[in-house]
Amino acid sequence: MTKEKNILILPGDGIGPEIMEQAVKMLEWVEENSALTFNIDHDVVGGASIDKHGIPLTKGVIEKAKKADAVLFGAVGGPKWSNVDFNNRPEIGIIGLRKELGLFANLRSAIVFDSLIQASSLKPEIIKGLDLMIVRESTGGVYFGSPRGIETLPDGTRKGINTEVYTSKEIERIARVAFELARQRQNRVCSVDKCNVMESGLLWKDVVTEIHQKEYSDVELSHMLADNCAMQLVRQPLQFDVILTSNLFGDILSDLAAMLTGSLGMLPSATLGVKQSNDVIPALYEPIHGSAPDIAGQGKANPLAQILSLAMMLKYSFNERQISEKIVNACKSVLDQNYRTLDVMSKGMKEVNTQQMGQFILDQLKNVN
Ligand code: IPM
Ligand code: MG
Repeated sequence: MTKEKNILILPGDGIGPEIMEQAVKMLEWVEENSALTFNIDHDVVGGASIDKHGIPLTKGVIEKAKKADAVLFGAVGGPKWSNVDFNNRPEIGIIGLRKELGLFANLRSAIVFDSLIQASSLKPEIIKGLDLMIVRESTGGVYFGSPRGIETLPDGTRKGINTEVYTSKEIERIARVAFELARQRQNRVCSVDKCNVMESGLLWKDVVTEIHQKEYSDVELSHMLADNCAMQLVRQPLQFDVILTSNLFGDILSDLAAMLTGSLGMLPSATLGVKQSNDVIPALYEPIHGSAPDIAGQGKANPLAQILSLAMMLKYSFNERQISEKIVNACKSVLDQNYRTLDVMSKGMKEVNTQQMGQFILDQLKNVN
């Protein structure tokens, strides 16, 4: 049986289009090697959308994203748009999509491939075999809380305000995602907050503990303060299986986790919402890195996080585990053959550009399978 899937592709800005081009190369191969066929639509988002429509996220794109079975997203932002109104900045492209589609569960997996151990700034024995998953809440917290804004005080000085807000419902549903995932992995969740200074953190810890006792007591649960977690991630990252945390801490800790793997250019992510009446779970897949405007258009970008995001899409949205694994293995094997983009380049390796890296991975898929 053929399964037709609607995919919306939003390359965005900076290196977004060039890494997306590499991921899209794989889609034809996937069609030939699975029961899937794709109905692909491309559109603009972020700075590219500001240039074309004056705003970073149009209603049209939101509608298309809602109708799609999955969205494949590149990256947004860049100095070109540094002077636009704050409410109209390119980043609204991604933050707005998360909110509009209710994509509350951002899964960021950090896996150290053996062949990239040398690329990490940490010692090999600290990171060898690392496979951790950060479950980041992504529609709440300080990103969306009110009051927010910049006010001028009576004496003419100014005050900037943001608010960390979490309801018990929001905490419960993201905690469930983490516990469910842990059951399919090493069965351990470390919940991360700042309950020593924040009431929202206190509630976070309470609710996670409660859900654990009621529904997931088979899973091992620990709690850690966010600052300690940052320290532990570089000290002894292998202690973690699933890290469950808020929007802001997840943003910060996932950049940190990415560098354990050697480069920001290695980490894919899936952001999932609530199952709809038609059984589709809204989902967006994107590399965790930004648009890297400083290297855009030069063929220096690492397309692996984007390609691995595609692999996550096949696994989580389309349930094509084998095909997904084949793509991951093709990435591994190209790295095993010592091909490297600049970000993970080390002595004795063969430097390739973005386009070559994509082509090698595609060739590998075609030759091996
Ligand atoms: C991420 C990014 C975004 C975030 C930016 C681009 C708004 O850093 O996905 O980690 O902060 O969530
Ligand atoms: Mg980030």
